[in-house]
Parts: sequence; structure tokens; C-alpha cells
Amino acid sequence: MSEQQAGLSFERDIRPLFRDKDRQRMEWAFDLWRYEDVKENAPAILQRLEDGDMPCDESWPPERIEQFRSWMQGGMAA
Ligand code: HEM
Repeated sequence: MSEQQAGLSFERDIRPLFRDKDRQRMEWAFDLWRYEDVKENAPAILQRLEDGDMPCDESWPPERIEQFRSWMQGGMAA
């Protein structure tokens, strides 16, 4: 694990990846701007991002998905 991966934090690096729209449309399931919710659902969220079916209007570019994956592998810091 690189220093950079270890340094990724939810507040600074992950939450800004989710748009207001993403948050609003997914609120029935979880709050994408809330650390505990994203941490708890991280494997399922990553799966959807990798499958390219979430967000349903435009899939994330690979480097964005990689950032989410690195955050998970780095221990999901708040
Ligand atoms: C466990 C992960 C997720 C599940 C099971 C899930 C499931 C769903 C379902 C069932 C819908 C409503 C049906 C549909 O429009 O396809 C939906 C809508 C939506 N989701 Fe997710 N989602 C997940 C993660 C995400 C993530 C990570 C994002 C953003 C990065 C996201 C963004 C959206 C948006 C923008 C909509 C509304 C689409 C529209 O109506 O135009 N979702 N999601």
C-alpha cells in the first residue's frame, strides 16, 4: 500500500466524488455524504461503480473508481 493510498480520507477525497444528485437519488438506501453509510456499504457501492450501472446517468472514469478502491484498501479513513 502506498503512502498516498493510506492517506486517502472520506471527508477530503471521497465525499466530493458524489454529486448532490447522487446523494438525493440514493437517500432511500444510504446517505452518500455520510461516512458511516458509505463505509458500511462500500463493497456494494464499488461493485456498482465497477459494473458501470451507478450512477445510472453516467458511469465513472476508471481513475475515479480506482480512487474509491484505494480508499477502501487503505482502511477507509474518515
Ligand atoms: C449499493 C450500491 C447502489 C445500489 C444498490 C443502487 C441502486 C439504485 C437503484 C435501484 C436506483 C433506482 C433505479 C434506477 O434508476 O436505476 C438508483 C438510482 C440512482 N443511483 Fe444508485 N445505487 C447504488 C449506488 C450508487 C452510487 C455509488 C451512485 C453515485 C455515485 C448512485 C447514483 C444514482 C443516481 C444518480 C440514481 C438516479 C438515476 C436517475 O433516476 O436518473 N447510486 N440506484
